[in-house]
Amino acid sequence: MNPQQDRILVTGGAGFIGANITAALLARPNTDVVVVDDFSSGDWRNLRPLDCELRAADCDDAQLLDEIAAGRFSAVFHEAAITDTTVMDQRRMVEVNTNAFAKLLAATAASRTRLIYASSAGVYGNSPAPNAIGKGEEPENIYGFSKLAMDRIAARWYRRHPSVIIGLRYFNVYGPGERHKNERSGNKTASMMLQLYEQIRAGKRPRLFKYGEQRRDFVYIRDVVAANLAALTAPRSGVCNVGSGRARCFNDVIDALRGSMGVEVEVEYFDNPFDFYQNHTEADLRDSRQLLDWQPRWELEAGVADYVKLLDAGHRGPCPQC
Ligand SMILES: NC(=O)c1ccc[n+]([C@@H]2O[C@H](COP(=O)([O-])OP(=O)(O)OC[C@H]3O[C@@H](n4cnc5c(N)ncnc54)[C@H](O)[C@@H]3O)[C@@H](O)[C@H]2O)c1
Repeated sequence: MNPQQDRILVTGGAGFIGANITAALLARPNTDVVVVDDFSSGDWRNLRPLDCELRAADCDDAQLLDEIAAGRFSAVFHEAAITDTTVMDQRRMVEVNTNAFAKLLAATAASRTRLIYASSAGVYGNSPAPNAIGKGEEPENIYGFSKLAMDRIAARWYRRHPSVIIGLRYFNVYGPGERHKNERSGNKTASMMLQLYEQIRAGKRPRLFKYGEQRRDFVYIRDVVAANLAALTAPRSGVCNVGSGRARCFNDVIDALRGSMGVEVEVEYFDNPFDFYQNHTEADLRDSRQLLDWQPRWELEAGVADYVKLLDAGHRGPCPQC
């Protein structure tokens, strides 16, 4: 291998965010990418345009851990996880999300390899917004808890160990590369942008929980990818939020879709069937600016317009220029 060549591992690279990170890494000079995915929720079509080395395996595969510990990768992006937040099997969630991550931490620490991993705004549960690191970390489901457990284990390592470990708490991510989430799961787990887009293009009325006033921090995938790339050069370990920094309601999403799709549609409101539902999330980005020297660039309306253009063109897979 050329000594100047970076060889970067992306776990969960067949998934939505992993495929977009892979695409962006491949666009860098002198960078090879190895994708490891078990295809439990990802989709091979996300990898179709990406010339990377691919392995179908668990992210805590023993041979892979040995390679990481031996220093064969210049950095690791860990995106693999059970991403369906309605899964209730506590043991399985913690095994796949938390245990596997602990093994990756040990392996990266052994070779001082930089580890950048996906955490989640789910760690904040229904705590009052704005959501800041170290405040209101009270997850309301096992998914959010498994991510908080990852952040806690990571903090233990980076207090004691010199290798750089960076956790990114993604808020509600939307954009190209997430179509499989509607097609594969019985539960639709794609962003509301995609779900509402598909309802409207199918000639149906878009459906929202009554009365569309719940507010979320929606962040466009291009900003999420930029945060990950910034984490490659961040000077120290830590965890930070990756959101737009602004809460917007679901009715705003409908307005943005109406504008960019050029349609007039009426919303059908219905009762929210979930016991647990995040009614207001908003990322406090102070730590993110300090740690990553990064800030989001895509407002909701601009992100939705970019996304709709790609969807209307039949685009599948990660963002073209990422
Ligand atoms: N999309 C969001 O809005 C969002 C928000 C917060 C956090 N996250 C986190 O970001 C990461 C990526 O999520 P995504 O939206 O791309 O979901 P995704 O389901 O599209 O991608 C996850 C990928 O990981 C793979 N995977 C799952 N378990 C694995 C294992 N044990 N070994 C190897 N591969 C495995 C899946 O097959 C899939 O390709 C996840 O860690 C998720 O928890 C996503």
